[in-house]
Amino acid sequence: PERQRHRQQQLGPGGGRALLALLWAVLLAAWEAAWGQLRYSVPEEMPKGSFVGDVAKDLGLQLLELSDRGVRVVSQGRTQYFAVHGKTGHLVTAERIDREQLCRLAEKCVLRCELIVEGQMQIYRIEVEITDINDNAPSFKEIELEERMSETTAPGARFPLAEAHDPDSGRNSLQSYELSGDEHFSLAVQAGPGGDQRPELVLAKALDREEAAFHELVLRASDGGDPARTGTARIRVTVLDANDNAPVFSQAEYTVRVPEDVPVGSTLVTVTATDADDGLNGHVKYSLKKVSDMASDIFHLDTETGDISLLQSLDFEEGGSYELEVQAHDGGSLFDNAKVKITVTDINDNAPMISVRSALNEISEDTPSGTVVALLHVQDRDSGPNGAVRCSLDGNVPFRLEKSFDDYYRVVTARELDREQVSEYNVTVRVADGGSPALQSSAVLYLRVLDVNDNAPVFAEEGYSARVAENNAAGALVLTVRATDADWGQNARVRYRLGEGRVRGAPLSSYVSVQAETGALYALRSLDYEQVRELRLWVLAEDGGAPALSSNVSVLVQIVDENDNAPQVLYPAPAAALGSGSGGAWSGVELAPRWSEPGALVAKVVAVDADAGQNAWLSYELAKATEPGLFRVGLHSGEVRTARSPLARDAARQSLVVVVKDHGRPALSATATLSVVLAESVAELLAELGSAADEAAAPGEPAGSLTRWLVLAVAAVSCLFLAFLLLLLALRLRRWHRQQLLPPASGALRGVPVSHFVGIDGVRAFLQSYSHDVSLTADSRKNQLRLQSERTGTYTSFYAFKLWVIS
Ligand SMILES: *[C@@H]1O[C@H](CO)[C@@H](O)[C@H](O)[C@H]1NC(C)=O
Ligand SMILES: *[C@@H]1O[C@H](CO)[C@@H](O)[C@H](O)[C@H]1NC(C)=O
Repeated sequence: PERQRHRQQQLGPGGGRALLALLWAVLLAAWEAAWGQLRYSVPEEMPKGSFVGDVAKDLGLQLLELSDRGVRVVSQGRTQYFAVHGKTGHLVTAERIDREQLCRLAEKCVLRCELIVEGQMQIYRIEVEITDINDNAPSFKEIELEERMSETTAPGARFPLAEAHDPDSGRNSLQSYELSGDEHFSLAVQAGPGGDQRPELVLAKALDREEAAFHELVLRASDGGDPARTGTARIRVTVLDANDNAPVFSQAEYTVRVPEDVPVGSTLVTVTATDADDGLNGHVKYSLKKVSDMASDIFHLDTETGDISLLQSLDFEEGGSYELEVQAHDGGSLFDNAKVKITVTDINDNAPMISVRSALNEISEDTPSGTVVALLHVQDRDSGPNGAVRCSLDGNVPFRLEKSFDDYYRVVTARELDREQVSEYNVTVRVADGGSPALQSSAVLYLRVLDVNDNAPVFAEEGYSARVAENNAAGALVLTVRATDADWGQNARVRYRLGEGRVRGAPLSSYVSVQAETGALYALRSLDYEQVRELRLWVLAEDGGAPALSSNVSVLVQIVDENDNAPQVLYPAPAAALGSGSGGAWSGVELAPRWSEPGALVAKVVAVDADAGQNAWLSYELAKATEPGLFRVGLHSGEVRTARSPLARDAARQSLVVVVKDHGRPALSATATLSVVLAESVAELLAELGSAADEAAAPGEPAGSLTRWLVLAVAAVSCLFLAFLLLLLALRLRRWHRQQLLPPASGALRGVPVSHFVGIDGVRAFLQSYSHDVSLTADSRKNQLRLQSERTGTYTSFYAFKLWVIS
């Protein structure tokens, strides 16, 4: 009954079930007692020395017996968990007992030991049940759980989770699980075959790695203890990527404008596509799709970065815009396309170009204004203002530009050209475009102006004149004319020739000639001032053009007098005419009355000089006189006058020698000898004359045979002269008769002076002197002129008189 009471205490209060348990315990105790067996129970984890059971009382042993006889507890294992307290006889724990350690899996943990009472030699079997207390919390083997789940996993899928473990038993063992942390997941607990609980993770909602790549969950396991203990594990669900996202370009169309001069290698635009996927699925690579060959040569797309860079320099003129299609694809098979529009903007990088399509090299100077000289093509590859060209000509040239059509220009002459002013042109055509800065270029047209014979030769002087001294050498250079022709080549080749003309009936060309090339004028013959005073002629200059142009110039050649003629004494008659033959000496007989007053005119020496000017200016001097001082001669008049009245003692016959001199350099002179008879009356005069004739013939010599010879000679000459006159008269008569018979057409000879047909010297001498007398009349000095009529009369009368006297 004590055992039962104790058991009751052990079991504690309980309802009907407690009563039932009590009944069972009573029955068990009765069975045990029968077998001498003790049963106790003690909770685990009691401190050492805790009371288990009062073995002494239960076995009915006296305490003294116990201490005297000796009591031992022997366990089957090595470790002694229990001991008997000698004084009290209580069974106490000898060690701290962990039920979970001792009976790992057993549902009921019972330790057995024997109590040996040595004095009685009795063994009692004791069973101590170790009861569980909730000293262990459920625990997971790993508190961090990793779950990997593809994002494409369908909702409802289940994933077994690690179970928690609680070594406690009964209610103290694991009772339930709960999950917290994420709406995507829920927990399902399956009952295992052994009644154990198996937690499973259930996907409640579709996952999206791009939304959340990880999910953190907490799994809590609880036991049924009081208080309940829990164990947790953290579950990290990694969402595995699925290639469920295509790459997406940031723009559907990329538009860039780049100037054409961007350097090669520079990046024009970067295309970017993003892929929400992860890893390879999110790794975007770019490629060009649908691209022309040309564009693929120019642009390069970096497959990794998406940079579109330039491989070659751009040229707006070759391609103004490009359209590329780029594709971005991920590691899977998803892709996206985008367009890239590259617009190249123009830069003024092209200078305008001129090309000469056709051009003349030579142009005749008489080409009319407006003649096309060149055809140019102008172009600029740029566009807009950069390609707008302006064309102009450099300098002040007689050309202008005309636009023909499109980009063609014509260079035409703006006026007539003149080779003599500008013989060649370098026409610079300049083109500039409208860029900023403007580019320009130029072309030079070389144009030679061809000559046309449009200029006549021009003489250097308006008229030429030269003075040539007479008696020049034949072939002497007189002067040189010079003409120039502004034309070129043959057109400028000047040749000279003499203009037609006649001088004194002879052609001019017999006097002078002009050298055709040099224009030198030569005298062909020795010129005689006394014949030709001057030559007026024309020299023509003619160029070599066709037709030739010519001009003329007047040339005046003045012949300068030289003192080549000595004075010629006309009176007194030259001795030669009297047949005396003494050269240059002239003689005559003059009469002077003895009653003459001083200054009375006795005679006059008449002389002429064929020269001109100083060379013909004569002066008279008395060189010798029988009675010096009786006569004087007028220096310029040649008048012989009495210087005083003749005296009785003066000889009747006076002889005077007068020298006539011109003023040439050197001066030439002639002498005239005068015999003057001084008489009182005519009778005396005649007497004197008779003796004078003798004395005049041989003065100072005794009159004799010489005088007679002289008289004879004079008579002979006179007869001859008379005969000649008669002959001449006959000839004239005959000619006159013939002229009457001839037709008037042949009257050319009529103007010719008679003297030209008389070739006989003697006659000419007479006639020449006569005609000279007449012709020189006009040129002689004033006093000579005045005396002319007087002289002629006197001359003839004296001559006749003298002839008479002599004969
Ligand atoms: C034109 O150019 C040529 C060649 O450069 C040169 O010889 C000539 O003198 C130039 N003529 C003129 C008129 O400038
Ligand atoms: C000289 O030229 C003028 C015109 O300039 C012309 O009238 C004249 O006849 C010419 N004389 C000669 C001799 O050719």
